[in-house]
Amino acid sequence: MIDTITIMTGFGRSGELEAVPRIDLKMGDVVSIVGPTGSGKTTFINDIELFADANTPTGRRILINGERPPTEYRDDPARNPIALITQHTTFLSDLPVNEFLHTHARIRITDLAQRETAIERTLSFANQLTGEPIMLESRMTELSGGQTRALLIADATIICNTPIVLLDEVENAGIHRTRALELLRQYRKIFIFVTHDPRIALLSDYRIVMQRGRITQVLHTDAEERKLATVVSHLDDVLSNLRDKIRFGERVTSVELEGLA
Ligand SMILES: Nc1ncnc2c1ncn2[C@@H]1O[C@H](COP(=O)(O)OP(=O)(O)O)[C@@H](O)[C@H]1O
Ligand SMILES: [Mg+2]
Repeated sequence: MIDTITIMTGFGRSGELEAVPRIDLKMGDVVSIVGPTGSGKTTFINDIELFADANTPTGRRILINGERPPTEYRDDPARNPIALITQHTTFLSDLPVNEFLHTHARIRITDLAQRETAIERTLSFANQLTGEPIMLESRMTELSGGQTRALLIADATIICNTPIVLLDEVENAGIHRTRALELLRQYRKIFIFVTHDPRIALLSDYRIVMQRGRITQVLHTDAEERKLATVVSHLDDVLSNLRDKIRFGERVTSVELEGLA
């Protein structure tokens, strides 16, 4: 059972110590990593995925439940507690969605009935995240960016059921973000989002701020920001709605923006 994952911090690109000595993530935490391009966000989550042990350029170390992770986490794909979803996730083969999910489920779930249930739940979860329904018989390479990301998030959460899910900049991909966070919070996991999206950042418990390869701050979402998150979500919905209308050849009027001022 994993309860905590600890990052013993290291150094930025210029060798300066990071601003905090350690960060302890607890089950149920939703955390964002923010910072400009090149600030070390991907490197940070790669350190976690690799179970860094002062053997990467950052000098960071990862502890699970306060201790060095067992080697089986690294060596046995069925035991690895971490799922990483990136922008560049591609598929080695052009399987139908159904077979992709079954292949994955066979590695993680031995009971046949449980496996079938997990596959059904994964598909329905994915379809709540994206506006374009995914069919079991579609081929993986035919899915849109949003559908692919939704399916991977659902697969990581339900079929792989890993206690730690890392997402590297997945927001530009046609996913209902507020809905996603609501749904993900029902699972007791650690979710780490690399994000430029204010909605995701403000719906997180806290955000880790990066600059020049270094953690410079850890900001807990305060009451005022929490209130703002609702307004930001609303704003974002209004804009998405506007975007859709224009895309489908409709005219837009000031009615669309009512309630914003
Ligand atoms: N602490 C660090 N020490 C040395 N190099 C680093 C460190 N953090 C990041 N880098 C390097 O800086 C570059 C940009 O980092 P990256 O993680 O890709 O940034 P981001 O994902 O925020 O755009 C990469 O080449 C990476 O290897
Ligand atoms: Mg990156």
